Amino acid sequence: MKFADIRLPVVFVVLLVLAGIGWLLWSGRTTPPAEPPALPVFSMQGDVLQPILPLAAVGDLDPLRVELGKRLFHDARLSADFSLTCASCHDLAKGGVDGRQFSVGIGGAVGGINAPSVLNSAFSLAQFWDGRAATLEEQAAGPIQNPIEMGATWPQVMSRLEQDKALKQGFKQAYPEGLTIGNVLNAIATFERSLVTLNSRFDRYLRGEKQILTPLEIEGYQRFRELGCISCHQGAAVGGNMYQKFGVLGDYFAGRPTTQNDLGRFNVTQREEDRHVFKVPSLRSVALTAPYFHDGSADSLDKAVVVMARYQLGRELAPRDVEAIVAFLNTLSGESPAAAVQ
Ligand code: HEC
Ligand code: HEC
Repeated sequence: MKFADIRLPVVFVVLLVLAGIGWLLWSGRTTPPAEPPALPVFSMQGDVLQPILPLAAVGDLDPLRVELGKRLFHDARLSADFSLTCASCHDLAKGGVDGRQFSVGIGGAVGGINAPSVLNSAFSLAQFWDGRAATLEEQAAGPIQNPIEMGATWPQVMSRLEQDKALKQGFKQAYPEGLTIGNVLNAIATFERSLVTLNSRFDRYLRGEKQILTPLEIEGYQRFRELGCISCHQGAAVGGNMYQKFGVLGDYFAGRPTTQNDLGRFNVTQREEDRHVFKVPSLRSVALTAPYFHDGSADSLDKAVVVMARYQLGRELAPRDVEAIVAFLNTLSGESPAAAVQ
């Protein structure tokens, strides 16, 4: 075959490829990104396979360690001037939060981020809004030494605890090495792992008590799934198992000055794609934990739901949907964990 014979088909193919590339570029430019984010899909089989699982207690917790952790969680010796305990900002009788937009630490220092609940925190993939602590043990060391939270140092805290004979004895019984920094953190973390809010009305519904929810609450759960809230808030804790951007389908931060805390996971990874990415919070007991969001900007659940639909799903919700979803979210509050009772 001579070169001249194949010249025409080659030119034709080249033209076709160029046209294809042109079309791709053009269509890419004009396609509106109005789709909800591509996230895990669940196969729904009636009520059998649910994207939300009932909560179950964390097994194998040493009761001695839980008890020690409970004491330390309420122990003012962990703060430099004896003014604060963990419970000051995580009141277990009030959903594990302080009810403020931003927490108030030692000497009245106001932080710049909302205190999340410690209830059910055992189920989170990591701790803090930006996930910077891998475990509850690692997390607990944070507030003790944070200058605007408890403002203490380890030598200070440990020398105080060392003087407490009963506490020292308790640690000796619960841990082979006795009272050490690592064991103080483990005791607190073990206590926190016991803070599971079992038997919410929603969990009883999942377990087969179909009459326990009102039609409005069931409608709310249905809308929560249909709209796509479930793609991020899912699993036993209805959240806590992934990171997502705050503002997937709209710029949540537009029109207000942003703070270091608004950068979210970017502060941990320094990766551009992690800017404004946060741990998806658990919605267990969410009815008790206002105000909402890392910036504490939504003072009611209604407002939080509207913001979520707008910025995460690109939707303006009808008032009926807001009402139903809020009714559903109210069914997620369970029993106060036994260890949480003072
Ligand atoms: C001055 C208020 C304050 C005190 C005291 C405090 N915390 Fe917190 N806690 C916060 C704030 C605010 C955050 C969120 C900080 C962030 O994400 O950057 C937080 C986050 C947490 C988290 C992570 C929850 C989640 O879902 O990510 C846990 C667990 C926790 N605190 C436990 C404790 C323990 C244990 C103590 C005592 C050793 C304690 N806190 C003392 C305010 C406080
Ligand atoms: C793309 C993932 C995604 C979707 C979809 C989504 N959320 Fe969220 N949700 C988040 C993230 C991330 C946050 C934390 C935002 C922040 O404060 O930085 C959050 C926070 C919340 C909060 C506040 C919780 C708290 O403790 O402060 C509520 C309530 C909530 N979402 C409900 C909903 C509802 C209802 C829907 C559906 C209308 C929904 N979310 C859809 C990711 C999502």
